[in-house]
Amino acid sequence: NDMFEWQRPGYHFQPPYHFMGDPNAAMYYKGWYHFFYQYNPYGSAWDTTISWAHAVSKDMIHWLHLPIAMVPDHWYDSKGVWSGYATTLPDGRIIVLYTGGTDELVQVQNLAEPADPSDPLLIEWKKSNHNPILMPPPGVGPHDFRDPFPVWYNESDSNWHMLIGSKDDNHYGTVLIYLTKDFKTYTLLPEILHKTKDNVGMLECVDLYPVATTGNQIGNGLEMQVGFGKGIKHVLKASMDDERHDYYAIGTFDLESFTWVPDDDTIDVGVGLRYDYGKFYASKTFYDQEKRRRILWGYVGEVDSKTDDARKGWANVLNIARTILFDVKTRSNLLVWPVEELDALRTSSKEFNGVVVEPGFTYHLDVGTASQLDIEAEFEINQEAVDAVVEADVTYNCSTSDGSAHRGLLGPFGLLVLANEKMTEKTATYFYVSRTVDGGLQTHFCQDELRSSKANDITKRVVGHTVPVLHGETFSLRILVDHSIVESFAQKGRAVATSRVYPTEAIFDSTRIFLFNNATSATLTAKSVKIWHMNSTHNHPFPGFPFP
Ligand code: FRU
Repeated sequence: NDMFEWQRPGYHFQPPYHFMGDPNAAMYYKGWYHFFYQYNPYGSAWDTTISWAHAVSKDMIHWLHLPIAMVPDHWYDSKGVWSGYATTLPDGRIIVLYTGGTDELVQVQNLAEPADPSDPLLIEWKKSNHNPILMPPPGVGPHDFRDPFPVWYNESDSNWHMLIGSKDDNHYGTVLIYLTKDFKTYTLLPEILHKTKDNVGMLECVDLYPVATTGNQIGNGLEMQVGFGKGIKHVLKASMDDERHDYYAIGTFDLESFTWVPDDDTIDVGVGLRYDYGKFYASKTFYDQEKRRRILWGYVGEVDSKTDDARKGWANVLNIARTILFDVKTRSNLLVWPVEELDALRTSSKEFNGVVVEPGFTYHLDVGTASQLDIEAEFEINQEAVDAVVEADVTYNCSTSDGSAHRGLLGPFGLLVLANEKMTEKTATYFYVSRTVDGGLQTHFCQDELRSSKANDITKRVVGHTVPVLHGETFSLRILVDHSIVESFAQKGRAVATSRVYPTEAIFDSTRIFLFNNATSATLTAKSVKIWHMNSTHNHPFPGFPFP
């Protein structure tokens, strides 16, 4: 529907039509990055025809849509080919495990393999004759047993260890562990990998992986295989079905006791850190053996109405692939950052240095049209103002604030993107500094959707979180703007916020970008702002691709 075409991203991945959901089996195979995802071939909302769509890429930025890999066609997956994961076996063979919704909507686990492993595109898939290979065990509800995750191989007993998320009778999230040698028969261990600290409910799309704590180079990504011992921690992540957010916690997995323990038990899965404080769900990582890095993908949902999704004929987009590293400076969070391949889309750029914005003012960063951008900015506020403030906004919280409109002593300041000239529509990405009486400073990183659109039937929030800003650091932002999606990264990826916004006037040639400083006492200096226009990727359908 042309009325909505402006909402389509120019350089983010999405299928040409219909609903996309969870990233599934991502892998690098015979020279291609493969990406599978939950896809409804018939409509723009989730339903039980959910299938595995498939695309390939050389750089995770430009994609070729391939034929649908698997559809519901057996009793054990007739209500949907749900989420799963791919594993490369030591002999190079690929296997996939996925959840099937049975005829009776019981969640069971199934096995599939490429029909022709010599095909680098892995176009044909065959489901195993042994399916279903796992039914919910006693004590586990038929609707609480999904998203298998084959993780690692233990050479000493030649077992694969597989994880599945669930919840117990008291609504605590649990992670079950199975052992298997052949992916057809499985033994459930009496131990559970982890039970959540709070009663946060069902854990969807569980992920567990090692991170190197000794250096934060891209090439330090680790395969689960080699991921134990000194200088290694383990990240446990789950998607919270109740709350619809992806939480992670850093801890240690102990091979002997089969348990994972968080470093700080106040930061457990479901109660602490998130990959993204905006719209981002059902994410999975995979290890890219080509560039020795860990890559994160989630899906970014719509926040408009179901009616609008039906009218436009599509729903949801994929975030730009993000690399994951342990933050060796704070040692308490990950660094989540767009893959370097994205830089190849940067075209003309403009740089602004040392722009000063006094309290209550905005500054137009004139780059012409501003609907497809990559922005890197570094800010400072004057030290006199910070020193003069004894106590300010101790209880400030992005999500309960009035966003960019609220005026505090030391914030908000930042950027207004997807704005029109009169700024009657704008999405604000900003910092807000608060101070406690004992002298402590805290920085909040927020993204304000409240004034992003004049349209009404849209969920508009202020999202965000506190972010560590270490002594001597500037406030830094990277923002990817792409028509109806804004992905923002603070302090090199210590905190991330993704928004979907639907301006009515700030579209195409009418989009602008501004600096703003709505603090009452601090003066903002934008030390540097670099803005690149971004090329479109124009993803191509494979000949015969079954999209209408
Ligand atoms: C997460 C999820 C998974 C499930 C899939 C079904 O979004 O609910 O738990 O496997 O979607 O589409």
